[in-house]
Amino acid sequence: MESFQKSILLPLILTAALPGLGFCYSITKGPENATVLAGSEARFNCTVSAGWKVLIWLSQGSPVLTVISSQGSVETTERFTSHNYTTGDEFTSELIILNTQLSDSGRIECSIQKPSENNFAFLSVQVNGSLLIKNSTLTVRENQTVEIVCEALGWAPAPDITWMTNDSLIDKSSYVTQQSPGSHGLHNALSTLTLTPTDTELLTCLADIEALPSPQNATVTLIFDNSATENDYSEDSRSTWVIVLAVVLSFLGIVLLVVVIVVAVRCCLKRRGSTYQNEIRKVSAEKKKDGDLVNRQRNGSENLGYIPEELWNTEQSPGLPSMFSKFASPDDNLQITSVPKVRPQRRTDYLISPKKIRNVTLV
Ligand SMILES: *[C@@H]1O[C@H](CO)[C@@H](O)[C@H](O)[C@H]1NC(C)=O
Ligand SMILES: *[C@@H]1O[C@H](CO)[C@@H](O)[C@H](O)[C@H]1NC(C)=O
Ligand SMILES: *[C@@H]1O[C@H](CO)[C@@H](O)[C@H](O)[C@H]1NC(C)=O
Ligand SMILES: *[C@@H]1O[C@H](CO)[C@@H](O)[C@H](O)[C@H]1NC(C)=O
Ligand SMILES: *[C@@H]1O[C@H](CO)[C@@H](O)[C@H](O)[C@H]1NC(C)=O
Ligand SMILES: *[C@@H]1O[C@H](CO)[C@@H](O)[C@H](O)[C@H]1NC(C)=O
Ligand SMILES: *[C@@H]1O[C@H](CO)[C@@H](O)[C@H](O)[C@H]1NC(C)=O
Ligand SMILES: *[C@@H]1O[C@H](CO)[C@@H](O)[C@H](O)[C@H]1NC(C)=O
Repeated sequence: MESFQKSILLPLILTAALPGLGFCYSITKGPENATVLAGSEARFNCTVSAGWKVLIWLSQGSPVLTVISSQGSVETTERFTSHNYTTGDEFTSELIILNTQLSDSGRIECSIQKPSENNFAFLSVQVNGSLLIKNSTLTVRENQTVEIVCEALGWAPAPDITWMTNDSLIDKSSYVTQQSPGSHGLHNALSTLTLTPTDTELLTCLADIEALPSPQNATVTLIFDNSATENDYSEDSRSTWVIVLAVVLSFLGIVLLVVVIVVAVRCCLKRRGSTYQNEIRKVSAEKKKDGDLVNRQRNGSENLGYIPEELWNTEQSPGLPSMFSKFASPDDNLQITSVPKVRPQRRTDYLISPKKIRNVTLV
């Protein structure tokens, strides 16, 4: 019995062992996680060792493509196709999902109808939504705090929002981002940046999702209007200065006018006074001539001893008005307007003055 059993088992074992070399195949490298933008294609590789019979691709648990070792790939679903590569005794099937949809996101599995490890990965289909800064060009004044709103609509998943000023990142504490669900499983985000600019800045709102090679961005130029505030301030101070200056200048002008008038009046008076002095000098000069004449006449008619004293007297008297005017003020000169009238009187004074009589008695 034992030998019979052995004789039966041995060929069975042998027959089992020979194809058993082929049964020992396995997945040497399973698919890897992929993240793609909706609309683009997604690719997954599954590498199996020699001896494989069938390879089935499943998306979210449902078979989408089957590759039979002897027949090649059997494509039944429009958007799912495949390529194959053979390296030595290893076979690689590449699943290509065309025009990915958000609903394609999920588990992608490679099955060889044998329990195996590392035979699945995840597909993440993301949606590149829209991004805009609601405020267009802004003009901000000194010490003015402004809120800039950046809106991201129709994204999947909700994007990471960051802000930049010129070329440097803005600290996260300066902005707040709120996410909200949108339509068709998409997400919206609203980021509010609060800042008090000190310079003109190019503000950039960046929205990033893994599938984007570089973040999508929106920009706004924030113009720091330093001149506007300074102008307002300086215009105020300028106007006050102008008022003060106007008041001071008008006051000075009035004072100057008064001074000018006073000086002019005084000048006029002095000039008039000086003409009077000249007239007086002329008058005195004439008097001197007259006096000389009188003296000569007297020289002939009267005592010789008397003459020198008369001469001395007449020399003294013409000097009197000039001396008088020398010390007198212009106002005083005004009182000597009647000099020509005095002239005959003085003449008579010489002729019949008490002094003269006294002189005569003295001699
Ligand atoms: C693949 O994606 C899944 C789900 O997102 C994650 O749990 C897993 O760690 C990822 N695997 C690798 C190798 O990144
Ligand atoms: C799959 O493998 C082939 C051959 O090694 C390679 O050219 C291709 O880029 C791979 N595809 C993916 C999605 O890794
Ligand atoms: C590999 O690709 C070639 C060309 O596309 C095809 O003819 C062949 O059937 C494929 N082999 C398998 C096993 O899918
Ligand atoms: C994402 O969307 C924006 C706006 O529609 C577009 O400008 C940009 O090219 C898109 N990015 C990619 C990688 O498709
Ligand atoms: C920017 O736009 C948002 C939304 O329209 C508004 O609430 C905010 O006041 C604007 N900011 C400025 C500085 O105009
Ligand atoms: C702005 O604030 C600073 C500090 O508080 C102050 O010195 C300056 O005068 C302010 N400027 C204006 C235009 O209000
Ligand atoms: C940003 O760039 C503008 C010119 O593009 C420049 O005038 C401004 O000073 C810069 N601001 C800062 C904060 O560097
Ligand atoms: C903004 O996006 C454009 C292309 O859309 C790119 O050329 C530019 O470098 C981006 N800016 C930043 C700050 O990422």
